Amino acid sequence: MAFRENRAAKSSVFSLFLLLQLLSLFCFSFKGISAQSPVFACDVSKNPNVSTFGFCNPSLDIAARVGDLVNRLTLQEKIGFLVNKAGSVSRLGIPSYEWWSEALHGVSYVGPGTRFSNVVPGATSFPQVLLTAASFNTTLFEAIGKVVSTEARAMYNLGLAGLTYWSPNVNIFRDPRWGRGQETPGEDPMLSSKYGSGYVRGLQQSDDKDPNRLKVAACCKHYTAYDVDAWKGVDRYHFNAVVTKQDLDDTYQPPFKSCVVDGNVASVMCSYNQVNGIPTCADPDLLAGVIRGEWQLNGYIVSDCDSVDVFYNNQRYTKTPEEAAAKAILAGLDLNCGSFLGQHTEAAVKGGLLNESAINKAISNNFATLIRLGFFDGDPNKQLYGKLRAKDVCTPGNQELAREAARQGIVLLKNSAGSLPLSPTAIKSLAVIGPNANVTKTMIGNYEGTPCKYTTTLQGLTASVPTVYQPGCPNVACGSAQLDDAKKAATQADATVIVVGDDQSVEAESRDRIDLHLPGQQALLVTEVAKASKGPVILVIMSGGGMDISFAKGDDRISSILWVGYPGEAGGAAIADVIFGYFNPSGRLPMTWYPQSFADKVPMTNMNMRPDPSTGYPGRTYRFYTGETLYTFGDGLSYSQFNHHLVRAPKLVSIPLEEGHICHSEKCKSIDLLERSCENLAFDIHLRVKNMGRMKGSHTVLLFSTPPSVHNSPKKHLLGFEKVFLTAQMEELVQFKVDVCKDLSVVDELGTRKVALGSHVLHVGSLKHSFNVRI
Ligand SMILES: *[C@@H]1O[C@H](CO)[C@@H](O)[C@H](O)[C@H]1NC(C)=O
Ligand SMILES: *[C@@H]1O[C@H](CO)[C@@H](O)[C@H](O)[C@H]1NC(C)=O
Ligand SMILES: *[C@@H]1O[C@H](CO)[C@@H](O)[C@H](O)[C@H]1NC(C)=O
Ligand SMILES: *[C@@H]1O[C@H](CO)[C@@H](O)[C@H](O)[C@H]1NC(C)=O
Repeated sequence: MAFRENRAAKSSVFSLFLLLQLLSLFCFSFKGISAQSPVFACDVSKNPNVSTFGFCNPSLDIAARVGDLVNRLTLQEKIGFLVNKAGSVSRLGIPSYEWWSEALHGVSYVGPGTRFSNVVPGATSFPQVLLTAASFNTTLFEAIGKVVSTEARAMYNLGLAGLTYWSPNVNIFRDPRWGRGQETPGEDPMLSSKYGSGYVRGLQQSDDKDPNRLKVAACCKHYTAYDVDAWKGVDRYHFNAVVTKQDLDDTYQPPFKSCVVDGNVASVMCSYNQVNGIPTCADPDLLAGVIRGEWQLNGYIVSDCDSVDVFYNNQRYTKTPEEAAAKAILAGLDLNCGSFLGQHTEAAVKGGLLNESAINKAISNNFATLIRLGFFDGDPNKQLYGKLRAKDVCTPGNQELAREAARQGIVLLKNSAGSLPLSPTAIKSLAVIGPNANVTKTMIGNYEGTPCKYTTTLQGLTASVPTVYQPGCPNVACGSAQLDDAKKAATQADATVIVVGDDQSVEAESRDRIDLHLPGQQALLVTEVAKASKGPVILVIMSGGGMDISFAKGDDRISSILWVGYPGEAGGAAIADVIFGYFNPSGRLPMTWYPQSFADKVPMTNMNMRPDPSTGYPGRTYRFYTGETLYTFGDGLSYSQFNHHLVRAPKLVSIPLEEGHICHSEKCKSIDLLERSCENLAFDIHLRVKNMGRMKGSHTVLLFSTPPSVHNSPKKHLLGFEKVFLTAQMEELVQFKVDVCKDLSVVDELGTRKVALGSHVLHVGSLKHSFNVRI
């Protein structure tokens, strides 16, 4: 989603806002209420005729209802249903519906479909997604989605929100500079897939478990290979991502596939950029072919705001706007965020570029989604979620989950002996320093909503011990650090917590970084304060991307380092929970931390995941990158020590091949996944995990595998992860089921999945086990 559309939509959103404000004032003074009612179709009380319409009849099946509705519409009316601000048809009892709402990590005010009011002034604001992903806890991903959809439904019932949410963002965090990396679940396709499908299930799954019903509709975006916003003059509206078939299939596509196939997501959004010369929203192979055809999307494909306009006006991909409209719809686009299809589709039909049947197909997908949401079932108050109201938003339980999510995500990167946790009873005075130490809005990142309330880091820490606060810099830009007061505070305190990092002025939508260092004089502030400190120094990095903090990693005076992402409304409380040892940290980095030299050397626009020795290109992410790192994917310490012991794993996996298969030769290095004999071939890995420490805590078992080096395969890749909670000295068996064809496969140079034959090595922590796969 975009600023472009925000620009276009802002004035209308603003006037709508004013109108609603006036309306609420009006209601307030004359009726003594300010709540509004939800938008829905088939309201018998407004139009008695609706009871005769098939599309209003919940006992008919979805296809029949959709067919009935489409048959009643004129061409102009149909075109009105191709855009986010959908048209109304009063003769049929259909009010205008706004498709654009957002709920990336809580119900958001970004998008005209949702707003806060005196009735619902805020919603629970969970950590920005990257930090939640760091929890490696699939139960948590789904639990957050469930709370968000409950709050969204409550707001819908009050006329404050829509039913269709354009979240989550499952693009791979390929480059540390990307300003939107914070919105994503990180750099690993498998973790991103688990996050995406889990969050989608939480948002969508109806409590009655009816697959034909949606609690709210989610949307996985931005399809595909979208992760450059604005870097050295290259912007997303013009960028052509040149992507190999191999990288597309084993890096960029998996999270989207998982959203559709595992998560049953109701929508996918195509992006602004081109992939290999074709705008994604105009690519029939990517949309109709893959999403609708291969993956069998049950729902609608929507454009980013306003991708169709972008590929016509910015990219000049077609000669006329009518051609652009026709190309998008024929490629498989169903809904246009923006107004472009509303303006140019009729002329495209009249000009013979497009048949009405293509429009019928598009709006049918949109209507089917609204039907599953209950939009055509009459009064929502009488439906499953009809009782939800303001009391169900920002409940103590929901806010506690926001704190819990932040605690589970926070990553301990460094901890010298005796540093953390701090004893809340022994510390008589704590110096709290840094430009992010007492920030509020910074904590919730972008695609935010108004939170229920904020707990800043300073407030969180002050709840346990007496503190002295010095920001040290007026803001994260930190043009000139105010060292004297900060050093003085550190000199006098028993321990020092320094909270530094970024905010939306450094990394954001339409704002990629150039520099991976801490901005301005933040590093100077950290070093000088650490030098002056009497006790342990805890460095807290609040950011949406990795940073080159080598100076701090190597500085003995800095005894501990925490990465806290953008930790959400309860971030400060969660940070204090970890610092004082009320909670044992268990987060793991969902992305590699590169040194500045990476940013100096590697163009952000190079989409290749694999290294190229001939040019010195180092590759990207833990799966391929060959250069130095500060920290890598999966890094993260605990206050306890966890040991792994392998209990069961195969030494040999044989794939029975059919007679006459061409692979019966010595030279064969891999076999096709399509091979029937490979189906349902699986084995178990059992590990004993023991908490060797004195503190209870959770531990994530990350199971990696290094395939044989054929087809430029990754150095290693994540096969699975399992998070377990263990009290002190407790031991538990952790089991993984490995599907030979799915999990051990690699993608070859042509984008075909193959099982590599030869020696595979499994890694869990420092434990390694190799086994042979042969035919
Ligand atoms: C209901 O249908 C009748 C007959 O077709 C029509 O005259 C009337 O205007 C309709 N009412 C509404 C509210 O559309
Ligand atoms: C429209 O439909 C006609 C008749 O089925 C078909 O011949 C023609 O190719 C279609 N045109 C487009 C642009 O799809
Ligand atoms: C910390 O931030 C909170 C919330 O903005 C504010 O109310 C408070 O005054 C700040 N504390 C200090 C010491 O500046
Ligand atoms: C995963 O998250 C859920 C929800 O917060 C929590 O109840 C559970 O304890 C977590 N699992 C582990 C192993 O920490």
